[in-house]
Amino acid sequence: MTLLVTGGAGFIGSHFVLDWLAMSDESVVNLDKLTYAGNAHNLEPLTGDRRHVFVQGDIGDAALVGALLAQHRPRALINFAAESHVDRSIRGPGEFIQTNIVGTFQLLEQVRSHWGQLPQAEKSAFRLLHVSTDEVYGSLGANDPAFTENPRNEPNSPYSASKAASDHLVRAYHHTFGLPVLTTNCSNNYGPMQFPEKLIPLMIVNAQAGKPLPLYGDGRQIRDWLYVKDHCSAIRAVLDRGQVGQTYNVGGLNEKANLDIVHSVCDLLDELSPRADGQSYRKQITFVPDRPGHDRRYAIDARKIERDIGWKPAETFETGIRKTVQWYLDSPRWVAQVQSGAYREWVATQYVQA
Ligand code: NAD
Ligand code: TYD
Repeated sequence: MTLLVTGGAGFIGSHFVLDWLAMSDESVVNLDKLTYAGNAHNLEPLTGDRRHVFVQGDIGDAALVGALLAQHRPRALINFAAESHVDRSIRGPGEFIQTNIVGTFQLLEQVRSHWGQLPQAEKSAFRLLHVSTDEVYGSLGANDPAFTENPRNEPNSPYSASKAASDHLVRAYHHTFGLPVLTTNCSNNYGPMQFPEKLIPLMIVNAQAGKPLPLYGDGRQIRDWLYVKDHCSAIRAVLDRGQVGQTYNVGGLNEKANLDIVHSVCDLLDELSPRADGQSYRKQITFVPDRPGHDRRYAIDARKIERDIGWKPAETFETGIRKTVQWYLDSPRWVAQVQSGAYREWVATQYVQA
């Protein structure tokens, strides 16, 4: 038996593939375009492992996806592939429309065609699990109840709008064509191997490099934070026990303001890798102009996945953030590898005033 994973060289996808192959003998075909966010180094532990077949390519390449489905006959497809960074979607939405909307559409078309021709037993066992985000739901006020699995989305950034569009396409392919889909909408992930354009790894690498820690606006925006390996275990649980056509929210039970997140990172660095001058890394916090259209608060109501599937996160924020900071301190080679020319260009453009 085989899984087809898309975007499996990215942050969450590579954790998923590594964890899967550590627990199962079921092989993985990993289709990834290797954009700036894809990192083949994440998959180094699988070098020489015949259960892992890596294919560099685009989910929007119909011929390639069709050929992979025909050749490997996966029993499931997990779709992680996406452009995933809100700030990049503000500077250039085009790639987000192309991959997240058009790419997902092309993928769905290939899966629909392949699935339609399968013998009945394979057809009913097949699953397409689409990985999405809580950002599709919109922004909450301080006292609003947390997001439930509500198909009435109010996305505010080009990123979240493109993810919402892909969720709607997945839903429509189930409703119209009967495709056996599952969708997960999860909160902000963090953990080892996250590209340092996202909040937590950016703060860790900047702190270590003696650079400013740029907080947008007043730093009081709230997110729910989910340790990446908990997200992967949730996806395995939904794949295993999710009801076809359903959407499941995945959350970390950790609603925190950005400023508090950065304080936690600084305090851990003070303990694990103190500054030479004995001062706290908090001194490096700098408030910079806010992100346009910045969503104020996301919060996840994850009762459905716990009730129907029996999943809850294993990590608290305190345990997860300690593992994360320690991993970055232990992995200077990985950090140096991802801080290539392209990364430096992004930082120079985005943080021009920081
Ligand atoms: P990431 O940016 O780290 O990785 C994305 C991966 O997809 C990369 O390896 C990239 O090369 C690949 N990719 C991009 N375009 C592709 C294409 N056209 N064809 C094939 N591969 C392509 O993203 P991530 O943080 O690992 O997120 C994975 C998924 O989870 C995304 O769908 C994202 O929307 C969703 N998600 C992420 C978070 C988070 O906090 N990181 C939270 C909620 C949901
Ligand atoms: P990010 O990691 O980009 O995830 P998302 O926008 O998908 O939630 O950002 C998390 C929060 O941190 C978000 O409120 C924006 C904020 N942020 C900063 O304040 N400074 C930064 O340099 C970055 C990258 C993010």
